[in-house]
Amino acid sequence: METGLRGKHVLITGANGGIGQATAVLFDKEGAKLSLHYHQNETSAKELESKLKGDYSFFQANLSSDTSVKKLMNQINQNNGRLDILIVNHGIWPENYIPAHDMTLQQWDNTIAINLTGAFLCSKHFLKNLEAYPEDFASITYVGSTAGIFGEAGHVDYSVTKFGLQGLVLSLKNEIVHLAYHGRVNLVAPGWTITPMTEKFMQDHTGIKSVLQTMPLRKLARAEDIASTILFLSSDKLAGHISGQIITVAGGMEGRKLFESDEINIDKI
Ligand SMILES: NC(=O)c1ccc[n+]([C@@H]2O[C@H](COP(=O)([O-])OP(=O)(O)OC[C@H]3O[C@@H](n4cnc5c(N)ncnc54)[C@H](OP(=O)(O)O)[C@@H]3O)[C@@H](O)[C@H]2O)c1
Repeated sequence: METGLRGKHVLITGANGGIGQATAVLFDKEGAKLSLHYHQNETSAKELESKLKGDYSFFQANLSSDTSVKKLMNQINQNNGRLDILIVNHGIWPENYIPAHDMTLQQWDNTIAINLTGAFLCSKHFLKNLEAYPEDFASITYVGSTAGIFGEAGHVDYSVTKFGLQGLVLSLKNEIVHLAYHGRVNLVAPGWTITPMTEKFMQDHTGIKSVLQTMPLRKLARAEDIASTILFLSSDKLAGHISGQIITVAGGMEGRKLFESDEINIDKI
């Protein structure tokens, strides 16, 4: 199927992570021009490099700083000109269960700075870029989470950042069209997905069973499940009339227990 992504210039934040890598590989196959952001893990950036065949460049940045994001966008523009597509995928999930009454302000501030302020800064500088290079087409896709739909006990900092992304989607869908006539803004909300972020959690069968009990499909997502939805939303040919939407990719999860533990077959995840 024709996606129309050939030659489109795409920035993927957190491109060296699990979902980021799968997304970069899919866009590469479609012939897009890739600007790939990583934060500090050069080893995984190198791993991604070995999977790409087309036109790509890597950029390092801490996305919670306005100066760094501005510098990143300037470097990207100098290298490759107008950005057409932004995928805000980077993020942290502090993995220990910490109830709000025990959470430090430092943890709260850090998660907000990376996940939410980082998303705002990337959006702001991407929109500035559209202002500088007016054209009809543009798309932003955020990677949220089911924690930004159902909440997540023990992870209120993370959950709040993912709820915050919905505010960006619903506000910026109405702003972007003044800078790119047919510009669109959407969000993909993954549930439990097998990536380095959840590696430790996935080693615990009791934990896996408890999350599978909330999903009719009773399986975990692969990074490719999320990447293909991001690609679909970014493509004007496939999703050109979709804006302001949140697509959950979470095996039908609805935030309540659907199965008893003995109805979960751990060999079929
Ligand atoms: N895996 C899941 O089950 C799941 C579920 C729901 C939502 N999500 C969301 O999906 C997105 C991708 O997650 P993933 O599972 O692919 O995780 P991952 O493999 O851990 O990747 C996280 C990415 O975020 C980057 N990052 C971390 N700190 C950063 C900072 N301060 N500034 C900029 N970038 C930073 C990392 O870069 P470095 O490695 O270079 O530090 C890495 O590229 C996240 O937004 C996450 O919240 C994941």
